[in-house]
Amino acid sequence: MSGHGPAQPLTAEKTGPLTGTANVPGDKSISHRSLILGALSVGETRIRGLLEGDDVLATGTAMRAFGADVNRSDDGEWVVHGVGTGGFAEPEDIIDCGNAGTGVRLIMGAMATTAIAATFTGDASLRSRPMARITDPLALFGAASYGRANGRLPLTMIGAPNPVPVRYTLPVPSAQVKSAVLLAGLNAPGETVVIEPEATRDHTERMLRGFGAKITADDTDEGRVITLVGQPELKPQSIDVPRDPSSAAFPVSAALITEGSDVLVPNIGLNPTRAGLFYTLQDMGADLTFENAREESGEPVADLRARFSPDMKGIEVPAERAASMIDEYPILSVVASFAEGVTVMRGVKELRVKESDRIDAMAVGLRANGVSVEEGEDWWNVTGLGPSGVPGGARVEARLDHRIAMSFLCLGMAAQKAVTVDDASPIATSFPVFQSLMTSLGATLRYENA
Ligand code: S3P
Repeated sequence: MSGHGPAQPLTAEKTGPLTGTANVPGDKSISHRSLILGALSVGETRIRGLLEGDDVLATGTAMRAFGADVNRSDDGEWVVHGVGTGGFAEPEDIIDCGNAGTGVRLIMGAMATTAIAATFTGDASLRSRPMARITDPLALFGAASYGRANGRLPLTMIGAPNPVPVRYTLPVPSAQVKSAVLLAGLNAPGETVVIEPEATRDHTERMLRGFGAKITADDTDEGRVITLVGQPELKPQSIDVPRDPSSAAFPVSAALITEGSDVLVPNIGLNPTRAGLFYTLQDMGADLTFENAREESGEPVADLRARFSPDMKGIEVPAERAASMIDEYPILSVVASFAEGVTVMRGVKELRVKESDRIDAMAVGLRANGVSVEEGEDWWNVTGLGPSGVPGGARVEARLDHRIAMSFLCLGMAAQKAVTVDDASPIATSFPVFQSLMTSLGATLRYENA
């Protein structure tokens, strides 16, 4: 698992055009939820296209520890035999979620209303991330938790013996917090209500509905009010996981900044709560088109076509778009480095508590590569140097953060001098085939001492 083995320094060099088709893996958010909801339903859930990255595999292992049967068949399909709402068994050992904030937070929610205890830990990145945002609302259901200072992992949670439903307004725009509350609400009697002032990704709501739960979402003056009726019997599903727009962001962005490129990234979900980056790139003047637009399993899907775009301009990214592209700011800041003018990103305080402090990680690395960045607590801006103006040449720290590592490797593909990341191993958490896929498009990636 990333972060547990030796560091793997990796260098990206400027090369010729990126061309061809990039088949990116399954969506990480939907993969975690497929395993967890499969484990909470009675019967057999079949999952095709599951992301087989370290984060999701850790969630699969955790579901086994809570009593579900989770197996991969030879053809790559995953089969989960669930234990039913409220049916989790007490794990015999500590649950190690690796690097996965989504995994650990959703699992804590899923167990919080069952009278069992579980202890969670993770890698150095996950152990540094705030968990009070999860344990506070779960305490309202009656769950107790004992962690390190500020609720950090390792943490033991004791599920509520007599859970009560809750009404909770999200203090931060976080789909992880929303999902943890909804999953806890599954085993509480009556209606659990979550109010989100800013809409975040809605996969949990869509999937709960698919699994047979009664759940409604209403847009009101307070924001989106989501109501879940507790104690449903979830019905097993057959799931086709769409490809991950957050992974598609890397080949798309690399193509936009690398001279002569023309890359097709097929079958990408364009759920409005996830697609903000692509609209932002179009606003910057990127040659990015949606081909073959269609609906699949109730979700808008298209093939993305990205061509080298030497005329991109910096823009002010609408702050209300932040939640729909929250994981994409690191790679956007790389594209912004190759545009003309300043790109301003506001309303992005949440970037400070991701796998790393992503504003700081990108600012430090971009400056080392000759790009000027200004930052405040919840905003930053990047001054573009045009399509051939980024010097590059630095070695940067990935800080156990897959998206920081991939962003700087994309920078290296188009900068004047090669760029090295100190450790590419975290990439395996979300995009295990990133290196081979980018190489197949024409990128030059070189492991140190290889
Ligand atoms: C995710 C929600 C987001 C995102 C993460 C995946 C999810 O986190 O950054 O990569 O699957 O719910 P927050 O909900 O904390 O913003």
